[in-house]
Amino acid sequence: MGSLDKKIVLVTGANTGIGYEIVKALLESSRSYHVYLCSRDLEKGKKAIERLRTESPNVTNTVELLQLDVTDDDSIQKAYEHVQSTQGRLDVLINNAGASYDFAFKDGKMTLRECFNKAYDTNLTGAHVVTYTFVPLLLKSSDPRLLFVAGLSMLTQAAEKYFPTPPLPAGWPKNVDFETIAYRCTKTALSMLMLDWNHKLKADGVKVWSVSPGLLLTDLGGGGYVREMLKERGAGPASEGGAIMKSVVEGEWDAYVGKIVSKDGIVPR
Ligand SMILES: NC(=O)c1ccc[n+]([C@@H]2O[C@H](COP(=O)([O-])OP(=O)(O)OC[C@H]3O[C@@H](n4cnc5c(N)ncnc54)[C@H](OP(=O)(O)O)[C@@H]3O)[C@@H](O)[C@H]2O)c1
Repeated sequence: MGSLDKKIVLVTGANTGIGYEIVKALLESSRSYHVYLCSRDLEKGKKAIERLRTESPNVTNTVELLQLDVTDDDSIQKAYEHVQSTQGRLDVLINNAGASYDFAFKDGKMTLRECFNKAYDTNLTGAHVVTYTFVPLLLKSSDPRLLFVAGLSMLTQAAEKYFPTPPLPAGWPKNVDFETIAYRCTKTALSMLMLDWNHKLKADGVKVWSVSPGLLLTDLGGGGYVREMLKERGAGPASEGGAIMKSVVEGEWDAYVGKIVSKDGIVPR
C-alpha cells in the first residue's frame, strides 16, 4: 500500500495542456506527491513523462503513467483497480480531461448531434463516472479533495454581460466565428455536478471545487487555427492553470469549498 507521507493525486487528461502543467506544478512542489499522469493514449503519455524528465529533472516527487479514457468504462475501472491495489487510497482527484468539438462541427467533420454528445460524454459524463468510480478511494484519505476544471459560471456571465461573440445580424444561418456553445453547455452542467458532489460528500469531509483556470493557450478545440484564435484573444500560458490547481490542492482555497474559484473571483459569491 502507498506511503502515508506522500499525497496520492490523479489527474485525467494530463499528457498535454493544463493537465500536464498540473502534474508538473505538483512534481516541483516542496510538498510530497505521487502523481498519476493519466492519458487516454499511452504513447502520448510516455512522451509527456519524457518531457517532464527534461523540464523537471531534479524532483523527488514521483509520477506514474496510467491509461485512462474518460469515455471508456473499462479503462476507468482498470485505472481504479490499479490505484486500489497499489495505493489503497486517493487523496486528490482532478477531473481535468476535456474537449471541445464545436470547430469540428463548423468544419463539417461531425454532425451537430455528434458535436454535442461527444462534448457531454467527455466533459460531463466522463468526469462523473470517473468520480463515481474513485470515490471509495477518496474516502480512504485523511484529507480528500475533488477538483473539476470548469469555466467561471458561464451561465451567470452570459446572463450579465458575457458572450464570446458580438451581437449577430438577423437572418440565417448565423455565422459565429469563435463558436463554443456545446463546450460551454457542458461546462455549465459541470458546475451543477460539482455542487451535487459537494452536497453528497459533505459528511465524508471531501473538499470539492470547480477551478476556472482562465483563458489559456492549449489545443482545446483541436489546435491549429483554433490555437491561433486563442492567441488572438490573449490566452495566457497553460502553466497558469497548473499554478491555480496546485494552490487549491495545497489548501489556499479551503475557505471556498463548493464554489467555482478563479484568480478573477468566486461563484457563487
Ligand atoms: N484552455 C482554456 O482556456 C481552458 C479554460 C477553462 C477550462 N479549461 C479546461 O481545462 C481542461 C484541460 O483542457 P486544455 O485547455 O488543457 O486542453 P487540451 O490541451 O486539449 O488538453 C485536453 C486533455 O484532455 C484529454 N482528453 C480529451 N478527451 C479525453 C478522453 N475521452 N479521455 C481522457 N482524456 C481526454 C486530451 O487528450 P488527447 O491529447 O489524447 O486529446 C488532453 O490530454 C479541460 O477540461 C478544459 O475544458 C480550459
